[in-house]
Order: sequence, then structure tokens, then C-alpha cells
Amino acid sequence: MIKDIQQEILRLKKEKGICILAHSYVAHEIIETADFTGDSYALSVKATTAPQKTVIMVGVRFMAETVKILSPEKKVILAQPIAGCPMAEQMDKDLICAVKKEYPDYKVVAYINTTADLKTVCDVCVTSSSAVKIIKNMDAQNILFIPDCNLGHYVSEQIPEKNFKLLHGGCPIHASVNESEAVAAKEKHPNAPLLVHPECVPDVVKHADYVGSTSGIMEYAKNSDKKEFIIGTEISIAEHLQYACPDKNFYYLSKKLICPNMKSSTLMDVYNAVRGVGGEEIVLDEDTITKARVCIDEMIRLGG
Ligand code: 13P
Ligand code: SF4
Repeated sequence: MIKDIQQEILRLKKEKGICILAHSYVAHEIIETADFTGDSYALSVKATTAPQKTVIMVGVRFMAETVKILSPEKKVILAQPIAGCPMAEQMDKDLICAVKKEYPDYKVVAYINTTADLKTVCDVCVTSSSAVKIIKNMDAQNILFIPDCNLGHYVSEQIPEKNFKLLHGGCPIHASVNESEAVAAKEKHPNAPLLVHPECVPDVVKHADYVGSTSGIMEYAKNSDKKEFIIGTEISIAEHLQYACPDKNFYYLSKKLICPNMKSSTLMDVYNAVRGVGGEEIVLDEDTITKARVCIDEMIRLGG
């Protein structure tokens, strides 16, 4: 049954000239139908070079908006309309404009997990895999990092020569894991390196053997000589790794690491989206696209 639906998706997307982009947090059976899978940075860059005129994003809303901003001439469909990112909704344009007035000498660096509307008042966008490189490359000493204070804290430690102001936002899923869980996991699996996403709290990150994006974690585990790993990000990454490396063992840092938004997209949603009867077309006005594009272009320029 799953194989039949996958075959239909593959047939229809070829026939209709559709590109399917899937974030690494979505289910394995969806990833098998995608043209490209990766972390937020790779997905946004990939969207600019995809030859197809229609893109289906299987991920969360801010990712589909980013594709639309970079490729406004394309039809961009979010496969599951309810898939938002709670972190992206935490701060709005009014709040950030007010904070900017308090810190006029600071450049606003926005994690890509923000709305298109908020991006219109930010200077540079970053992703977890590109933040350190981009902020090092920025011609600015003072950085107002929004919205994730955990990623912001991690980045500020890598770049002690710059001044950081952090606001109190973040991912409720990653931030739910605490230090005692990290210590307990390491005690239970003493030979397994702990690989964590920088959205985790600093007390967890300090126990990590590797800190990186979803793609970074996967690459590290695939290329390592070690045979077992504790995965400190959404549980789907451990599952994908288990398919990719059947001779290795992957343990969840915590069973709380499940993103209900990423999990809300199903294979049937993708099937309906390629059939043209499901999903939501992303529509952004020209002014939003033009202004939000400035900080995404800066991300690609400084992170490339
Ligand atoms: P990545 O950029 O590492 O894919 O992270 C996106 C995300 O939402 C992590 O929770
Ligand atoms: Fe947003 Fe967290 Fe889900 Fe990533 S894991 S999409 S940051 S809620």
C-alpha cells in the first residue's frame, strides 16, 4: 500500500513537473519520495536551483515561506497546512521593532525559524548549520540574536569577540530536555558520543561530543568509526540514521524529542498535494517578499 502511494507520487510529480523538498524531520516513507532532503539551510538554497515550477515543501510553514521568498515565480505548496513551528510564532515585527529602538547599534540576526513578516525587519538570517560562519563574516560587532536564546548562547560562545544580546525564545521540544537526562543517557551508553542540536539548553549542550544541525548530526554519525550514538534532536533523525547505517546503533536522548508539527505531515498529504487537492499554496505580498529577501540573500552571501 505504502509502495503504491509512493509510486503514484513519483509518477505524478514527474508528469506535472513538481519538486518535493522534505526536511530531515519528516517520516522515512516521505523522504523516499523527495527530490531533496536536508536541513533548513540546504533546503532554502536548493529551492533556488530546482528547475521545476512547482515546489511542495514537506516541513513547516517558515520553510515553505522561505522557498517562496527566494523563488517568487514558483508555486509553493506546504503539504500540511497545520504544520507551523511554535518558535517561529514567538516574536513578531512590532516586538522586534521596539527592541531595535533600545539597541540601535545592534544588527538583528534572525534564526530562519521566524515568519516572513518578521524577516522584513531583520538584517541577516541564519540557520543552525550556518550561524557561526555567517556571524563571524558579518561586518558588525553587536548582534541582537532572535528568537532562540539556546542557539544564540551556543553561537555567542563560539564567537567571544562579538557582543550578543539574546531574547527569551526557543524550541519547546528541544528545550524540554534537561541536563540530568543527558548525564543519564551518557551513563547508560558510555561508548556512544552524544550528538545534539544547538536548540537544546546550554546545560545539555555542554555534555555533547558534537553540536550541529540535523544534517550535521547525520553526517557526523555516518562518517564516524564509532558504532553507537545518542541523538539529541527530533527522534526521526535516529530513525533515518538506523536505515542508513544498519550496522550502528542509535539511541534517543529523550523520548520527548518529538515535534508534533513535523510529524503532522503524512504520505497521504504529499499524495494529495501532488494531485492538486491538498496542501496550501503559500501567498506572500510583493512588499513582504522584497523586504524579507534582503536578510535571506545576506544569509546565502555570507554563508556560501
Ligand atoms: P535544521 O536547520 O538543523 O534543519 O533545524 C531546523 C529545526 O527546526 C530544528 O528544530
Ligand atoms: Fe520548530 Fe522545534 Fe519543531 Fe524545529 S523541532 S520545527 S524548532 S518546534
